[in-house]
Amino acid sequence: MNFSIICNDLLETEKLAEKFANNVRDIGAFVSLYGEVGAGKTAFTKLVCKYLNVKEKVTSPSFVILNEYKSGVIPVYHFDLYRLEKEGVNTIINELEEYSEGKILTFVEWAEFSQNVLPFERIDVNINYIDDSKREFIFNATGENNIKIINGLKE
Ligand SMILES: Nc1ncnc2c1ncn2[C@@H]1O[C@H](COP(=O)(O)OP(=O)(O)OP(=O)(O)O)[C@@H](O)[C@H]1O
Ligand SMILES: [Mg+2]
Repeated sequence: MNFSIICNDLLETEKLAEKFANNVRDIGAFVSLYGEVGAGKTAFTKLVCKYLNVKEKVTSPSFVILNEYKSGVIPVYHFDLYRLEKEGVNTIINELEEYSEGKILTFVEWAEFSQNVLPFERIDVNINYIDDSKREFIFNATGENNIKIINGLKE
């Protein structure tokens, strides 16, 4: 299942994130975020967390690899693999699968080199920088629940 949308500015990205949060809050999901530096991977994560009532400050977990936000309506796990070398990314892949299970929301910001094919159901989000304020979001979902979440973005 595939869905793409252009967000003309940050406010439109916020509307998309609000819908995403509403669709995911009762289900949970594993979300892989791809896109160049400054594309908006952290921005999207932050905005989804806002609509899940996360109280902690959502920042890029570059130095610790993983941030956990427990104050929202579902637990959110936020990985950033930017600082890992290719080998480091490969060692973490097996560990990631457990973050795709249960009613939790996991975001993984991937290093650009690591367009890994993961062996479990998830939502892939590719964010393309178009200009200063304009972004293209391309969602690819596998698995019944994830497809439901993405279908809900179309309405
Ligand atoms: N329509 C938009 N959608 C998302 N972000 C936008 C948009 N317009 C402007 N921005 C800005 O683009 C920047 C995106 O930065 P962000 O840190 O989210 O990128 P990133 O993909 O996480 O990069 P990195 O690889 O460094 O982690 C933010 O400053 C955000 O405010
Ligand atoms: Mg980031």
